[in-house]
Amino acid sequence: MKKIAVFSSGGDAPGMNACIRAVVRTSIFNHLDVTGIMHGYDGMINGEIIPMNARSVSGIIHRGGTILKTARSAEFMTQEGMNKAKQNLESNKIDGVVAIGGDGTFRGALEFSNICSVPFVGCPGTIDNDLIGTDFTIGYDTAINTVVDAVDKIRDTAESHDRLFFVEVMGRDAGLIALRSGIGSGAEAILISEAETDFEKLIQHLRESRKDKSSKIVIVSEQSGTGSVVKLAEKVKKVLPFYDIRFSVLGHIQRGGNPSCMDRVNSSRMGFAAVEALMQGKKNLMIGIINNKISYTPFENAVKHIEELHPDLVKMMRVLAI
Ligand code: F6P
Repeated sequence: MKKIAVFSSGGDAPGMNACIRAVVRTSIFNHLDVTGIMHGYDGMINGEIIPMNARSVSGIIHRGGTILKTARSAEFMTQEGMNKAKQNLESNKIDGVVAIGGDGTFRGALEFSNICSVPFVGCPGTIDNDLIGTDFTIGYDTAINTVVDAVDKIRDTAESHDRLFFVEVMGRDAGLIALRSGIGSGAEAILISEAETDFEKLIQHLRESRKDKSSKIVIVSEQSGTGSVVKLAEKVKKVLPFYDIRFSVLGHIQRGGNPSCMDRVNSSRMGFAAVEALMQGKKNLMIGIINNKISYTPFENAVKHIEELHPDLVKMMRVLAI
């Protein structure tokens, strides 16, 4: 192993920069050349490969986003795209690649391994926390703290007006952002597809808690299957007309911002471990942290979706929301 490349791919996540920094500096410490690939798989196809040194990653550990940029590449899903990417890795004499991304990134890497022998090791970068093989993905902790911060603010105005708020949060295929941020913000209800939404029960719960609670916050995951919060608010207003209802879609603010300390440390650990894994000859696996220990999960297992959310959290959420 003489030369490593690192890239970020898919949706950006706070902590990706800390991970890039760790990959670059761990490589340099081990006397490896290190390059960055810009714009994810698109940059691999277009040959956007730039040399990096210890100073190229100075002053980035605290910044959200990714200095290497990112993309969801459609072209990489084609045979032609993959062939071009392979040529570029080979002509740049890349011996190993660290891919920072989520589900789509690792599916792509797995497919690519059928035509290209350059080893890939992944670091889980997505705010959704929807990968098997790590307790927390890069960006998840920051995202849920962003949500809690936003909901705390919404709570102030909801309290003042005795209002019911529906707050939509991200999580394309998993309700983990909603579940944890909902518990952390003391939500009255959390709607996620993993725990079936019984509309009648929700209505009953909101009706009963009307008298003794001035504000009510319902966290709705974008993947909950209930439709948009706009429609949901209208539907609830029809049944509970006495409620003054508002909604808020938090959107992409959940993807930005300075990473939390936990994200900075975890991302650094994973970037560090990824380079060591490549040096040890490991490939096609995702670095994770389980019970505070570095773990290695083959890409094919990491990309399987989580079917069931922590049942203890779901149970507790219902008890604490009375
Ligand atoms: O995967 C991260 C994520 O933020 C999801 O929670 C969300 O559904 C999706 O990306 C949004 O993607 P985009 O930024 O491409 O609209």
